[in-house]
Amino acid sequence: MTNAWIDLRSDTVTRPSNEMRAAMNEAEVGDDVYKEDPTVIKLEEQTAAMMGHEAALFCPSGTMSNQICIKAHTQPADEMICEEFCHVFNWEGGGPAALSNISCKTIRGNFGLIEPNMLLDAIRPPNDHYPKTRLLTLENTHNRCGGRVQPLNLVKELRDWTRKNNLIFHLDGARLWNAIVATGIEAKTWGKLFDSISVCFSKGLGAPIGSAIVGSKEFVASCRRIRKRFGGGMRQAGTIAAGALYALNHNIGRLKEDHEKAKLLGEAIKNSPGLKIDQPDIETNIVWFRLDQDIATVPDFVAALKERKLLIHTSGSSLMRVVTHLDASMEQVKKAAEIIQEVTNKLSKGKI
Ligand SMILES: Cc1ncc(COP(=O)(O)O)c(C=O)c1O
Repeated sequence: MTNAWIDLRSDTVTRPSNEMRAAMNEAEVGDDVYKEDPTVIKLEEQTAAMMGHEAALFCPSGTMSNQICIKAHTQPADEMICEEFCHVFNWEGGGPAALSNISCKTIRGNFGLIEPNMLLDAIRPPNDHYPKTRLLTLENTHNRCGGRVQPLNLVKELRDWTRKNNLIFHLDGARLWNAIVATGIEAKTWGKLFDSISVCFSKGLGAPIGSAIVGSKEFVASCRRIRKRFGGGMRQAGTIAAGALYALNHNIGRLKEDHEKAKLLGEAIKNSPGLKIDQPDIETNIVWFRLDQDIATVPDFVAALKERKLLIHTSGSSLMRVVTHLDASMEQVKKAAEIIQEVTNKLSKGKI
């Protein structure tokens, strides 16, 4: 896709910059299955230190990282508690059931936030009829709930609740970087609250591929074994780890710009006839919104945007999403806002 296109479907669409490609090109490599890739080792050590944990494991994707953690934490017929719109339950191909043979108990949150009072009866009593409740998984920021940041105090309350009830606490932190930048709360403070964390380098940080699991040495060793079984043992993976390292060292602070761009788009959407924001606030880089079906159908709306070289994400009959990222400049985002307003104005007057 050339620069003429403005692609706001996801922050996964970014391409590696020339500087990132140069770092990948120059990476020192070895066979990582033999634990001999110096760049992978450097990335793992740096990520673990940042998150305040002992060890990390480089993985190809956020999905694989999450699913390896779930597998490492559970036995078949266990149960995981998670929020009903979370990624691990909805968008990872039924991974918990297919790969770990566990069930999920989903909790209806408050736009992605689980509060301790919602968990009163969530743990199964010790009785042969029931699966065993083993872990609670949280998502920060929460993708489907508008890039929402989990408030630190709430996360602490949930951590205390998991400790009190002898449960494991896992974080899908694919976009934890956005939460760190939005709150100014450092990675370690978040990291130390969880037993395991999955972070992604290929979302807002702009690396072409890669994710990491963070946890204790013992836990990460068990994940390494599962990663091999899942087919995720990689050889000269330093070539891609170098992109992730570059992202970690250069692209976190700039997420602030993506958050500003999302606010700008949110304002434009709010002021567009027939569109309604579908989240309480715009905290990071994701904006979900709905289209009034009396004005147009989602496919017609999206086609009109596409004719103007603007791509957005759709979900179901009325829901849509825009995500800001480092490959859509402020200028392009302003242009996208103008296109959205132009198209909704025309549609509301029946002129498209
Ligand atoms: C919150 C969240 N977790 C996990 C993932 C999975 O990441 P991947 O696409 O690298 O498998 C995504 C993907 O967008 C996500 O949004």
